[in-house]
Amino acid sequence: MTPDTILTLKGISKTFYLGTPNQNNVLNNLNLTVKKGDFITIIGGNGSGKSTLLNSIAGTFLIDKGSIKIKEKEMNKLKEEKRASLIGRVFQDPLMGTAPRMTVSENLSIAYRRGQKRTLKKGSTSNERLYFKTLLKKLDLGLEKRLDSEMGLLSGGQRQAIALLMATMNQPELLLLDEHTAALDPKTASVVLELTRKRIEEENLTALMITHNMQDALNYGNRLIMLDKGQVIIDLSGEDKQDLTVAEVLGLFQKRTENRLVSDEMLFN
Ligand SMILES: Nc1ncnc2c1ncn2[C@@H]1O[C@H](COP(=O)(O)OP(=O)(O)OP(=O)(O)O)[C@@H](O)[C@H]1O
Ligand SMILES: [Mg+2]
Repeated sequence: MTPDTILTLKGISKTFYLGTPNQNNVLNNLNLTVKKGDFITIIGGNGSGKSTLLNSIAGTFLIDKGSIKIKEKEMNKLKEEKRASLIGRVFQDPLMGTAPRMTVSENLSIAYRRGQKRTLKKGSTSNERLYFKTLLKKLDLGLEKRLDSEMGLLSGGQRQAIALLMATMNQPELLLLDEHTAALDPKTASVVLELTRKRIEEENLTALMITHNMQDALNYGNRLIMLDKGQVIIDLSGEDKQDLTVAEVLGLFQKRTENRLVSDEMLFN
């Protein structure tokens, strides 16, 4: 491990419904090392294990085998709440990241105070409100005027933008994005993606972003990985990624999976 390593996954495996007819080996001995400042886009077919990978890192459930380290700290036995101060997350569903019955400002206060000493103060302090206003203004969506609006009244795109702000506010070691623009119309999706890029850059974050949009996976980030059957089968960064086209990624996928079929056959016959 080098000093700039943020995340180390060694041989991680996760099986659901072990020992039943529905047994599902979702992650299979997966390895991945992520450096500080990496912005990795993750692609892969439905059911290839992308969300399971992020859930395993966040501690939504414990993995069966292998090791997950954030910096030098072993995560394996740590519950989700204990990992939360290290990890920011935004999900596909705009309803998930924020509390719909609370105002924008109250939602932001919750995120802002996370990791700080517990305070019994309700609502937001005037200093907090001032800070939130400057943050929201930077999003350029007019949300600085909506501090007292109920979150549930905002559009999906506005909610995702605020969820992103909340997830990145305390400079987490890792930002995990699971198709966070998939529920938005194309124009709003690209606004939220640009915001994502900006926040990652401004806060110097390390991020893993799942997307089904190949072009987005190529346009964003410095590294691209593809999952298939719970393993990383493509891992490209730097210039290798920059010059890639969607057709080339698909070609690579076909080649890698064919090779795997051949080696599986050699293994099993
Ligand atoms: N908590 C869970 N309990 C049981 N099975 C699960 C659980 N989470 C995921 N799975 C199963 O694991 C497999 C991989 O699911 P996962 O959500 O990781 O795929 P994905 O790559 O994110 O797919 P998609 O592109 O459709 O989101 C699926 O067969 C799914 O049903
Ligand atoms: Mg998924």
